[in-house]
Amino acid sequence: MLVTGNDILVPARAGKYGVGAFNTNNMEITQAIIHTAERLRSPVIVQMSEGAIKYGGQDLANIVIDLATRATVPVALHLDHGSSYASALKAIKMGFTSVMIDASHHPFEENIHETRRVVEAAHAMGISVEAELGRLGGIEEHIVVDEKDAFLTDPEEAVQFIEQTGTDYLAIAIGTSHGAYKGKGRPYIDQARIRKIGELTSIPLVAHGSSGVPAEIVQRFRAGGGEIGDAAGIADDDLKEATQHGIAKVNVDTDLRLASTVGIREVLRDTPKEFDPRKVFGKAREVMATIVEHKMGVLGSIGKA
Ligand code: G3H
Ligand code: 13P
Ligand code: ZN
Repeated sequence: MLVTGNDILVPARAGKYGVGAFNTNNMEITQAIIHTAERLRSPVIVQMSEGAIKYGGQDLANIVIDLATRATVPVALHLDHGSSYASALKAIKMGFTSVMIDASHHPFEENIHETRRVVEAAHAMGISVEAELGRLGGIEEHIVVDEKDAFLTDPEEAVQFIEQTGTDYLAIAIGTSHGAYKGKGRPYIDQARIRKIGELTSIPLVAHGSSGVPAEIVQRFRAGGGEIGDAAGIADDDLKEATQHGIAKVNVDTDLRLASTVGIREVLRDTPKEFDPRKVFGKAREVMATIVEHKMGVLGSIGKA
């Protein structure tokens, strides 16, 4: 069933488990996400960025909405990194049940102002809202507190921000970054900061940049002819720990991008005579489903629907 983000995330925060918010850009990605959720009885969030909306538009949103409506587990359609009030409103008109307003690059007061406008409009239509405070970016364990404080989310500010905006869930900067290069070795995330923010707040918290960039997928990508440098993602144990302290929405895009390309590369490499798109994209869908299943296991959302 198609539900709001709050319907999925409030129980997740209370029950100390995480829900994957997977980015989609086409039908196969959407199927890998929603069919796996259905098979594992897991709630799930499917998100489209503004780039995904530009690429797939209402056609793609309708595929998500149709699969979500027919699913017997809760599914939300979420706008990822909405850049303006107009963008959030457009997504709501398209049928999204959850929107993000990302004004985190603006000064604190302006972020509050922009977020509050979106919250007022979205709530009037029964839609829930994600906002962001702090700046995403990789950090290293040993850097001094002042440097961390310069861009990671300040716990006291988070409390003030939530009170003044009425946002339903909050993305916090904890040292993660987007993409396949999140740091050397095991990228560091600031668990102490998550715990502190978790103690001071009660709404669901959101972790962006949460792909694991599994070594096995990176290796298969290379074996299929792909070129990739020192890729590294967030360790499974680190994500699991974060869900014990307030992180309820866990954003994953890069892992699905890698997995789909791995599937395509392997079919083309192993069966050079193949040109049936169902064989090519079908394999991509299978590899993506393994990523979704793994993440749901790590986050503890299996069997929660
Ligand atoms: O946070 C960014 C997501 O990975 C979406 O990326 O804007 O290229 O669709 P995109
Ligand atoms: P990854 O690049 O780690 O998959 O993060 C995606 C994300 O945060 C989308 O908003
Ligand atoms: Zn993000």
